[in-house]
Amino acid sequence: MRHLMSPLDFTTEELDKLFDLAEDISANPKKYAHACDGKIMATCFYEPSTRTRLSFESAMIRLGGQVLGFSDGSNSSAAKGESVSDTIRVISCYADICAMRHPKEGAPMVAAEKSGIPVINAGDGGHQHPTQTLTDLLTIRSLKKRLDNLTIGLCGDLKFGRTVHSLIHALTRYKGIRFVFISPEELKVPDYITDMLKEKNVPYKEVMHLEEVMPTLDLLYMTRVQKERFFNEEDYVRLKDFYILDSAKMELAGKDMLILHPLPRVNEISVELDDDPRAVYFKQAQYGVYVRMALILTLLGLAE
Ligand code: CP
Repeated sequence: MRHLMSPLDFTTEELDKLFDLAEDISANPKKYAHACDGKIMATCFYEPSTRTRLSFESAMIRLGGQVLGFSDGSNSSAAKGESVSDTIRVISCYADICAMRHPKEGAPMVAAEKSGIPVINAGDGGHQHPTQTLTDLLTIRSLKKRLDNLTIGLCGDLKFGRTVHSLIHALTRYKGIRFVFISPEELKVPDYITDMLKEKNVPYKEVMHLEEVMPTLDLLYMTRVQKERFFNEEDYVRLKDFYILDSAKMELAGKDMLILHPLPRVNEISVELDDDPRAVYFKQAQYGVYVRMALILTLLGLAE
């Protein structure tokens, strides 16, 4: 039995197979419409979500399976003090696979240790969000036709942003990757990540202003300043609109520079950019369904 806790749980060869499968599903959805007949997915979400939970549910339904679960820990027996270990033991009696989101770092890992079914980390606190990373990598591979030799800008909340942390880890395994971190001082990428990049000799630079680096980027990964991760309202209000990507800034970008965003967006990308062909964040959400379909099949041993 295999779980997914980190994007590094799959080798790059396994990722290639997963992405090939996702692309085949996208091209031939009917071929997979009964692949999970009789299977049940549990979505156990202790934190709010639109894309991750609903794309998992859409993925399982499109594979012919069924879904059950909860979208708020306060509606589960966690509100009565039940541990995630006990919850997953019980869910293992009801479902064949589980996607779990939790505000506490490591909670899905604790669940996986006691689980009788594959557990997928659907985001744990400020730590990791591996299925968002699979979505991001599939989007880049499909639209850029490569995952190597890219200069990647990551902008916004690089301190608490779990999507950023997962994506950096995953991309360091490809050749010719250069990172440009764009953030205010208070939201800089954590030291453990820059230490890891130094150890692996992956080039990176840290800047505060988008304008100075826009022309150098192959893609720009925008992120939201996350209100829910701040300890005080005052800091959040001061930093929330630090970056707003708009048409004027996009004039500085290359004609092929893609804009990705895990979503939800608040103000950090102006809606005037939504029709720019370089803005691919809604396509990215669609890739999220295909890659989760491929992941479900893989973890259930049905990929062949
Ligand atoms: N990208 C992402 O994780 O979105 P949700 O929080 O809506 O699931």
